[in-house]
Amino acid sequence: MTDDVVIGALDLALRVDEALAVQARAFGLSDDEIAVRRQIVLRHLGHPGARALGATTPDGRLVGFVYGMPNDRAHWWSTVVEPYLRSRELDFWLDDSFVITELHVEPAYQNRGIGRTLITTITDSAAEPRSILSAIDWESPARGLYRSLGYQDLARQVLFPSAPKPYAVMGAPLPLRRPSA
Ligand SMILES: CC(C)(COP(=O)(O)OP(=O)(O)OC[C@H]1O[C@@H](n2cnc3c(N)ncnc32)[C@H](O)[C@@H]1OP(=O)(O)O)[C@@H](O)C(=O)NCCC(=O)NCCS
Repeated sequence: MTDDVVIGALDLALRVDEALAVQARAFGLSDDEIAVRRQIVLRHLGHPGARALGATTPDGRLVGFVYGMPNDRAHWWSTVVEPYLRSRELDFWLDDSFVITELHVEPAYQNRGIGRTLITTITDSAAEPRSILSAIDWESPARGLYRSLGYQDLARQVLFPSAPKPYAVMGAPLPLRRPSA
């Protein structure tokens, strides 16, 4: 990983605007979407066990972040994916599972191992035996990274209300797989 970038605990409530600016550049978000995401992130941080990590340059600039929380079947995300998983008898993945809600790295800092370190570090401290997430259902760098960490497809073509593109739901046992030596 890049020597000068430090991974550590992130006060996401305090730095939500910086984090959403990273997400906007990495993932593409309009100003309206940023405003909506801001409320969602702040609400998520009130859920039990919600945690965030940031990747920071020596001058304190945030260049990547991850956050997640133990899944709760009552959470909106879980209620959307549940029927897709249940139809394949895979909805046990929703129990005792740490959800990766967002993972984003500033484009100029991608492909240096920052994303891998963020998601591995946050899941290493999870008490749950598995992790789940959703990613846009195309062969993106994110999907490649998740597969290399042991995440497998649990459902595909999952439609979230108001999201134009279908998602894949992926799950992995914890701890996440390390690259073979
Ligand atoms: C997904 C993302 C967070 C990864 O962060 P990153 O710091 O670039 O990732 P890393 O450098 O740690 O890992 C790169 C890994 O991704 C995978 N990868 C990278 N580019 C890839 C590509 N073009 N195709 C397939 N896999 C790719 C590889 O598995 C690579 O592993 P390697 O270390 O063995 O080469 C970053 O690409 C990003 O922010 N993308 C836009 C936002 C996004 O899609 N977020 C996820 C939402 S679900």
